[in-house]
Amino acid sequence: MEKDTSNKLFERLKLKMSCECIEWERGSGDMEIKFSVRDILRRGKEISGQNICIFGWVRTRRDSKAGVSFVEVNDGSSVKNLQVILDHGKFGEPGSSEVLSKLHTGASVMVEGVITPSPGKGQEIELVASHVEVYGEADPSTYPLQKKRHSFEFLRQIAHLRPRTNTISAVMRLRSALSLAIHDFFRKRGFYYIHTPIITTSDCEGAGEVFRITTGRDGEEFFGRPTYLTVSGQLQAEIYALALGKVYTFGPAFRAENSNTRRHLAEFWMVEPEVAFYDLNDDIALAKEFITAMIEAMFTECEEELNFFQRFIDENLMDRLNNVLKKGFEIISYTEAIKMLSQHGKELEVAPSWGDDLQSEHEKFLTEVMVRGPVVVIDYPRSLKPFYMRVNDDNNTVAAMDILVPGVGEIVGGSQREERFDVLVEQMRLKGMKLEDYEWYLDLRRYGSVPHAGFGLGLERFIQFLTGVQNIRETIPFPRTPGHALF
Ligand code: 4AD
Ligand code: MG
Repeated sequence: MEKDTSNKLFERLKLKMSCECIEWERGSGDMEIKFSVRDILRRGKEISGQNICIFGWVRTRRDSKAGVSFVEVNDGSSVKNLQVILDHGKFGEPGSSEVLSKLHTGASVMVEGVITPSPGKGQEIELVASHVEVYGEADPSTYPLQKKRHSFEFLRQIAHLRPRTNTISAVMRLRSALSLAIHDFFRKRGFYYIHTPIITTSDCEGAGEVFRITTGRDGEEFFGRPTYLTVSGQLQAEIYALALGKVYTFGPAFRAENSNTRRHLAEFWMVEPEVAFYDLNDDIALAKEFITAMIEAMFTECEEELNFFQRFIDENLMDRLNNVLKKGFEIISYTEAIKMLSQHGKELEVAPSWGDDLQSEHEKFLTEVMVRGPVVVIDYPRSLKPFYMRVNDDNNTVAAMDILVPGVGEIVGGSQREERFDVLVEQMRLKGMKLEDYEWYLDLRRYGSVPHAGFGLGLERFIQFLTGVQNIRETIPFPRTPGHALF
């Protein structure tokens, strides 16, 4: 058997990309096809008899008395493994075989062999190995992922290994598909993708939850003025909406809120469309269309993952998602929401009261008990919302909209923006803001101002909704929360 071979292998094999699979062409002329495990299982018996080559990690191994070992190999493309058969006649008996002595859970391997209909239960096909190479072993006495199921709390402590589990890899595949579907949605509708800055001088939400940027060197202010990690790309997106019409930004946002909840991160990703000549109704319509389109996209692109989540994470997942497509979104005003909740005061810990923020318990009650579906809450009290939201004619409320969904609560926050110079100035004064820091924002109202609107959708909360995972920390590759930042 050849030893370490990764380099030799790459010399030998010429990589040729095709959209469905990657073909590896041997220098010698005989062709071997490298499919992902996902492709192989999808093709099933159709590729029976083909010589193929897979690369992945051993999930489990079982030695049978019938003279073969069963090795489950996963390459991160599927929740399912490919069963590999190693004949002891060829590879040696478990006690003495060099290959088998290395094939423990976690080891990385290349397996070449022939796809064969499987006589066993549980899989249509299997790979009968002709050649196995072990790239890296995983000592069974120390490799942490031995058990089938570990708690999410435990997995967070080994965030460098947790993507090798079924749940985290499935979530991350869905996250990848969702991110691309988001770009696709906006591209098809004529939006321009604007890269808004990570380093900013403004606190968009005005909540004082910003991380200050410093070099740490004594007395140095690198940019000549205080700067922060962005809490939202909205203000900069507005600049571009008022020039390019329809734009969106999609990137990380940072919030120094000290909330250790299952739906808060200090670093999260937000999608923020911003559209000139849109009012609140247009904004709501766009958000509804967007959420619906993303659910549909996940049904087609992540069917396997959704079935897995339904089975192992949340048995109501499909019903909940289908319900959104069937029932749609109910729109109610904040004032109505407070009235509705007040009728159930006894069932709530915190009594709802006009002028107070909706507690997560209130959001839950509205979406899960009263409406049983997504709710768009509009027209919040002026005092509760940031300076940029358009003041309604009643002078007490603003043209805001939050979208609440069962299981998660608020996933979208948006509004029509205040386009009237005088009203905006008054709003900023009331909120105690320094006007001189926002001259550029006021200029957008001085010169060619237009009604406009937008929203922000939190990617991770949306993934919670789409997968059913309880804690937001399982929806992002590297969660950052108060007291926790790995790597
Ligand atoms: O409601 P928010 O604060 O709205 C804004 O930032 C607006 N500037 C957006 C806009 O109109 N362009 O945040 C928007 C969404 C929330 O609904 C939530 O989904 C998510 O961002 N979000 C968080 N997600 C995870 N962890 C946090 N700490 C979050 N804070 C907000
Ligand atoms: Mg909000």
